[in-house]
Formats: sequence, C-alpha cells, structure tokens
Amino acid sequence: MIVDINEKYYGSRLALSNIHLVFNRGESTLIIGTSGAGKSTLIKSIIGKTKYQGFIRDYRPEDIGYIPQFPALNVMENSQDALYWSALFSSKYRSRKICRQMAGYYIDMMGLSGEKDHQIKSLSGGQKQRVSIAKELIRMKGILIADEIDTGLDAGVSRGLIGTLIKITRAENKTTVIISHNLSNIEMYDRVVVLVRDSGKTGRIAYSGRPQNMKRFFDTDDYVDILVKLNSVEENGLGQADYYIGKYEAFRKAGQIL
Ligand SMILES: Nc1ncnc2c1ncn2[C@@H]1O[C@H](COP(=O)(O)OP(=O)(O)O)[C@@H](O)[C@H]1O
Ligand SMILES: [Mg+2]
Repeated sequence: MIVDINEKYYGSRLALSNIHLVFNRGESTLIIGTSGAGKSTLIKSIIGKTKYQGFIRDYRPEDIGYIPQFPALNVMENSQDALYWSALFSSKYRSRKICRQMAGYYIDMMGLSGEKDHQIKSLSGGQKQRVSIAKELIRMKGILIADEIDTGLDAGVSRGLIGTLIKITRAENKTTVIISHNLSNIEMYDRVVVLVRDSGKTGRIAYSGRPQNMKRFFDTDDYVDILVKLNSVEENGLGQADYYIGKYEAFRKAGQIL
C-alpha cells in the first residue's frame, strides 16, 4: 500500500502535510509520535473515514481490517465461537467445517488453546486483545491496522502480542500497521514511522525506516530520547521537530533508504 497524503485540513487548520509512506507485504510497521501529531488522522485517512488531498494506492478498501483501541466483543461468547462467527460472516470460506478449522488455527496461533471454551468476559486484557486481533485476521484481510492495541497491557503481555502479530504478518504475507506509545518492542518491527507536530502544529514525518537506523539518525543511545527531542519545549521536550523533519526530507529527496 502506498500512502501519499499531500495535505489534510480540518477546516482551515493544516493537520497533515507531505506524508509519503510505503507499507510492504509481509512487513509490520510501528507508528509512533508526539501527542496531537496526527496519528489517528493518518489512520482515519487510510481507512477512508476522513477526506484529504492525495492518493492511497496499491490496495483495495475491502482488504483493510481495523482494530480500534477498545474493540467491542460479545463477552458472553467463548473465543472459539467468536472466531467461527467472524469467519462465517466474512463469506470467505467455502464451508462451515472450514470456518471451524480456521477458528482452531487462529486459536492456536494466538496462544488461546487453553481458554478457547471460556467466556470472553473471563479472559485477561491481553487475551481479549488476542481475540479481537484473531477476529480481524480470520476474515483474511490483507492489511491490518491497529490503534494502540497494547496500551495498558503489561510489558511481557504486550511483547507476546506484538510478536505473534509480526509472526503472522510474515507467515501470511500481510501488511500490519500498529500505532503505539510502547517503545520497548521497537526493534521487533520491520519499519518505524515517526510522526511529529512541527512548529506550525502540522503533522509531518520525522523518520521512516528500519528501527536499527534510528539511534544514529536521531543521534542518541536511547529510543526514549527521540520523543524528548521531538516534543515541543512547552511539553518539556527539546523542540527539535523541525530540524528532524528537514533532515528526513533531505534523506528522502536524496533517495537514501533508512
Ligand atoms: N475531527 C477533527 N476536527 C478538527 N480537528 C481535529 C479533528 N480530529 C483531530 N483534530 C486535530 O488534529 C490534530 C491531530 O489529531 P490526532 O490525529 O487525533 O492526533 P494523535 O492521534 O497523533 O494524537 C490535533 O490537533 C487535533 O486536535
Ligand atoms: Mg490518536
């Protein structure tokens, strides 16, 4: 999927500018950024929930599966049935038997075998998130977009969840885009996009590339410092967003791959 959002306005306010991104098959991308930078606006543009000036290419709208931060689950169901119904309603599978088999496959992939007969209301937060993700995956969407699905989960659970998602993305050649504030799993992703607010309060890209190249690009030993550098001085940051937006744009124009 190729995203070219030249400009996105809310009324007269420029919310996003010069957003050019490629999301490849088989790859998982993390989107991080300062608060109010336009992460949710970018996602809303991609899923067709808001208008913008530009183009999104190389995808079909029906390929996009979206997981909101707080997905609605029928808590009285068990996870096996929830996945079965999701498969059946998608009309993607030829028979009920195949829907059952696929439900079993995703239960195993998501590490829910031990709880497959339990009502969803009895599951932990992390297990509920796994059910939500599996419900999207079983519909065989090519592109999975998730907004802060690991917020509020403890570090180990979040690592397991993201690790599973990245593994499925590779194995099934899907495209996964995750917004998160959690930097502790950053090196697991194939790519990282850093979205920031410039001094005019417009969202722009300060980095897009492999996580392994980030520390050198931002001249730091610690990923956490990156957001400190990019935050405005009013937000107790160093106010270097404009500098890194310019640096990234120079790399991009020169065709340098990060
Ligand atoms: N529906 C809207 N109408 C007007 N302004 C909006 C709307 N949604 C978001 N904004 C503004 O756009 C900017 C980016 O918001 P958002 O995409 O929610 O940022 P993030 O998700 O990165 O925190 C913010 O300044 C926000 O106030
Ligand atoms: Mg948001």
